Amino acid sequence: MANTQPTLCIDIGGTGLKLMVVSHQGKALTERYRVETPQPATPSAVLKALKGLLAQVKTPYARVSVGFPGVVVDSTVQTAPNLHASFTAFPLGKAIAKLTGRPTRVLNDAGVQGHGVIQGRGTELCITLGTGFGFALYVNGVYVPNLEMAHHPFRDGYTYEEYVGNAAFEAVGKKKWNKRVRRVVRQLEPIFNYRVLYVGGGNAKKLEVDLPTNVKRVENLAGLLGGVRLWEHEAG
Ligand code: BGC
Repeated sequence: MANTQPTLCIDIGGTGLKLMVVSHQGKALTERYRVETPQPATPSAVLKALKGLLAQVKTPYARVSVGFPGVVVDSTVQTAPNLHASFTAFPLGKAIAKLTGRPTRVLNDAGVQGHGVIQGRGTELCITLGTGFGFALYVNGVYVPNLEMAHHPFRDGYTYEEYVGNAAFEAVGKKKWNKRVRRVVRQLEPIFNYRVLYVGGGNAKKLEVDLPTNVKRVENLAGLLGGVRLWEHEAG
C-alpha cells in the first residue's frame, strides 16, 4: 500500500472518541468527528460508537491508526485503566480492521500524540493531560513503548495520574492543579533530562503556569495527526 494514501486516525479517550481522515502530509482532510465515550466503555460499546462515527466519513482512506489510553502490545490491549476492565487482552487492532476493512495499527494514545509533534532528535518526552496522565518517551524519534508513568507514585501518596488527572483537576480546581502540573514537570526534568517536553491532552489548554523554554504546549489535535507518522515509524 503506497504511503501517500490518507489515514483514518482514531483517538479513543476516557471522555470522548474522536476521528479524522489525515493526508500523508499530516493535513486534516475531514472535520474532527467526536462522540462521548459510552459508559460502561466495554469493547463492544466503543466499537458500536465508532461504527456510528464512521458512517459519517465519506472521504476514502487506506489504513487506520488508533491511539488507545492504556498499554498496547502488537495492537492488542493489555490495560485500560480508564475504560472497562473487559478491554484487557482485547485484540483491538483486529476488531477495528474488521470494522473498517483496512489495515490497522493501535498504539498507546500518548505514544501516538508524541509522534505528531516530536522533532526526532535526542530525548523527547510527551505528556498528556486529560482523563488520565499520558507519558511517552522518544530517543532520536524512536518511541520507547508503554512507559506507564501515570501509575507511578508521585507525592503525598498520589500517583502522577491521581495528582494531575482530570479527577484531580475537578477536585482541587484550576489554580492548585496548575501548581501540581508545574511540580510534575519539575520532577520529570532531572530524571529524563529531555531536550524537549511536549504537553498535550484535552486539559493542556487549562495550563496557566509559565513553563521552561524547552517545555512546549501542543494542540490536542496532534493526538490525531500523529496517527499518520505511526505508519512511518512503527512496525505493524
Ligand atoms: C494510562 C496510559 C494512558 C493515559 C492517558 C493512563 O491511565 O495508563 O496508558 O496513556 O492514561 O490516556
